[in-house]
Amino acid sequence: MKLILLALPGVASAAKWAVIAAGSKGFYNYRHQADACHAYQIMKKSGVPESNIILMMQDDVANDPQNPFPGQLFNHPGDNPADVYAGCQPSYKGDIVTAELFMNVLTGNQSGVPANGKVLKSGPDDKVFVNFVDHGGVGIVAFPNGPLLTSTQLSKTLKTMQEKKLFKELVFYMEACESGSMFPELTPDGKILAVTASNAQESSWGTYCGDQAIVKGKNVGSCLGDLFSVNWMEDNDASVASETLSDQIKTVTERTNLSHVLSFGDKSFESEVINNFELSTSLPLTTRESWDVRDLYVNQTKWNWQHASAEKKAGAWELFQAAMKERSDNDELFQQIVQRICGGTNKECIQGLFSSRRELKEFDCHQRLVDTVFQECPRSSIYESSGGWNGYNMKYSQVLVNACEMKDILGGPLQLKESVRAECVQRKSTTAQEAVIV
Ligand SMILES: *[C@@H]1O[C@H](CO)[C@@H](O)[C@H](O)[C@H]1NC(C)=O
Ligand SMILES: *[C@@H]1O[C@H](CO)[C@@H](O)[C@H](O)[C@H]1NC(C)=O
Repeated sequence: MKLILLALPGVASAAKWAVIAAGSKGFYNYRHQADACHAYQIMKKSGVPESNIILMMQDDVANDPQNPFPGQLFNHPGDNPADVYAGCQPSYKGDIVTAELFMNVLTGNQSGVPANGKVLKSGPDDKVFVNFVDHGGVGIVAFPNGPLLTSTQLSKTLKTMQEKKLFKELVFYMEACESGSMFPELTPDGKILAVTASNAQESSWGTYCGDQAIVKGKNVGSCLGDLFSVNWMEDNDASVASETLSDQIKTVTERTNLSHVLSFGDKSFESEVINNFELSTSLPLTTRESWDVRDLYVNQTKWNWQHASAEKKAGAWELFQAAMKERSDNDELFQQIVQRICGGTNKECIQGLFSSRRELKEFDCHQRLVDTVFQECPRSSIYESSGGWNGYNMKYSQVLVNACEMKDILGGPLQLKESVRAECVQRKSTTAQEAVIV
């Protein structure tokens, strides 16, 4: 007779799950994959089984030829920092890492991921921790491939997770510029607590940058971490077992003194010890060299030029100049888009679109414009890009929000879309011509 083992009902204990995503690629974004692998290590140490950790990242940095430590990643400077890449195992890497994959993983949509790919299989008793690190703008965050993730899509994803009862409590830590704009629909009783690196109107910051990106006596050549991420993780590495989520949020808020850490949603379980979600394991708070993420590419190429050896000086200067030009080209692009939207040089209209800080409510209109920039605007040749978006120009998402919120006087969503499209198409063809002439 065969023995049949049945799972006893009612004894299922709470499981822990973690979903971690780095939204960028390229060596200049070293810090995101270092943050993500550090988070992976913390999850593992805090007792989340590796089978329940789903990590998505491009995984192109550790083995990038520019990495002075091939096959290793560091999230902290010093003579002997931990190699966070050792044992860091992405479930998804390369070109398949998209916003769509992220949503399918979170909602447990097995048919939306590659065969045998991991998705969240948590249940109503489980605790889920989600961590996202990358570039963002008002209502948008980037992925290394494919379109951006909008706050509308993220809200929908979280709602589906609620409906499918995929968690008892969910904690979401998000590092991105203007990430305070990404959780507009969380409620005080939805069992989701989101903590963001910045409010809806400011950049987040890379840290251990420039002269501080030194590991074992060598400068890595890219920021090692992001300020908010490093702060919560170093707090974890250092904390005592009784530290609560609200203790951690308080500490991290104090340390992340260049932007405003905010929390959204359900705060009813803030008094739980973080070990329920993450491990507690210290590092002194050192004085950090931190760079505004929007200027990071220019800062890094400038630093590289200043520190280049004689034979590499000229090339490094060119890259620095190219980074500066790219930045002004993006400023110019949005200047022109706004002029088209305003139907000329109406100063009041132009200033209003650039300087106001309207709250995003016209989600469909904004999504449409975000998609149009993605599809129609020229791709940056040097910045990490998601279609026409990049880490720098995502700051202009606010301008599109402003336009949508004023759509009634500016001619409606279709007309707004056409203004964006027409400018981008024109630029693309000019860029192509320049390329031909060169
Ligand atoms: C699952 O993912 C696929 C591919 O992304 C998508 O077409 C489908 O609508 C998703 N199913 C659900 C229930 O969201
Ligand atoms: C932020 O905190 C660091 C570390 O304590 C300190 O060195 C720095 O001056 C602070 N920056 C601001 C703007 O308060």
